[in-house]
Amino acid sequence: MSKFSSEGRGIQDPRSSTFIANLDELESGQKAKKRPMQLNAQTCVLRLDELTEADQGVDGLPVEAAPQPMQVASRMIVFFGPKGGTGTTSTAVNVGGALARFQRNTVLVDMDLQLGAVPVCLDMKPERSIAELVLESVSNNGGPLQSGLDKHQSGLHMVAQSDRMEELAEITSARLPGFFEALGQSFEYVLVDGLRDFNDHAVTVMDLAHKVVLVCTQDVPSVRASARSLRLFRRLGYGPDRIKVVLNRYQKKADVTLEAVHNALGQPVDAVIRNDFRMMILALNHGVMVSDVKPGCGLAKDLDALAALLADENEAERRGGFFSKLFGRG
Ligand SMILES: Nc1ncnc2c1ncn2[C@@H]1O[C@H](COP(=O)(O)OP(=O)(O)O)[C@@H](O)[C@H]1O
Ligand SMILES: [Mg+2]
Repeated sequence: MSKFSSEGRGIQDPRSSTFIANLDELESGQKAKKRPMQLNAQTCVLRLDELTEADQGVDGLPVEAAPQPMQVASRMIVFFGPKGGTGTTSTAVNVGGALARFQRNTVLVDMDLQLGAVPVCLDMKPERSIAELVLESVSNNGGPLQSGLDKHQSGLHMVAQSDRMEELAEITSARLPGFFEALGQSFEYVLVDGLRDFNDHAVTVMDLAHKVVLVCTQDVPSVRASARSLRLFRRLGYGPDRIKVVLNRYQKKADVTLEAVHNALGQPVDAVIRNDFRMMILALNHGVMVSDVKPGCGLAKDLDALAALLADENEAERRGGFFSKLFGRG
């Protein structure tokens, strides 16, 4: 517990240069060993295996009990990108779009408060900021948010801070549970993008979530950051049912194979999304969903399948697999 701040469960100062060292210490109880890495196509799979063995050392360390996820009828899903550029935002936006397309009342919250990319990906300018809505949830005691939120043409709602930096101090970890509870009163699905570390805000939000979707790609830095994140999730007490691993930009012939990723992470990949840069960038550049650019294309199918997977588990508990029927999978 000593590595966590007294305020919350997050790590104290993510901006300090000791942040990574702290993570290593947290995981292993000692300073991380420096491993020389010579990366090339021939060696990287092997190196990944080596990395995995070293990474097993976390077992035996105390695991914190995770608080129960949010106790409302809605479902909260965090998209977590431990390494930038793996496509976390693209995935979150398109899963949100798919849920909205299937008439699920869905909001996507951009918790990257300073440089969040969700508004740009949706080509929208947020009318209401997160800080404003956080304050509304305080005065409202966690009741449903009253006034209209920004809505994309796909039907997906969006909440972001935009460039209103002067309001950032209003967004405290202590206020976040009430804010998400308020969103949970108004939406069936509350998706969160923009988290990529273990500071107080991030851990507070992930503690509330029913699912944390870790978005990884087939390269050593991303797999390594993912393996590290999975260990930290375990330390935070998140069980396997709470974590989903998505392999984005999947290519069958990549140097780092799907199997190597399995091995390095010590758990299976739950879903893959194919690599289709042209299609994804076309959608992002126009502020629309992949399924709007080319309905039924392979990339759109993969993104829909992920939406179905995430929704199905939730809806199975409540409604008997609406998405399974929709996709003809049972
Ligand atoms: N499945 C995919 N295939 C090809 N390119 C992708 C895919 N997903 C994302 N990208 C590209 O990766 C880049 C980074 O995506 P982004 O969603 O901003 O990543 P992150 O949020 O993890 O930093 C973007 O240029 C996007 O077009
Ligand atoms: Mg992002």
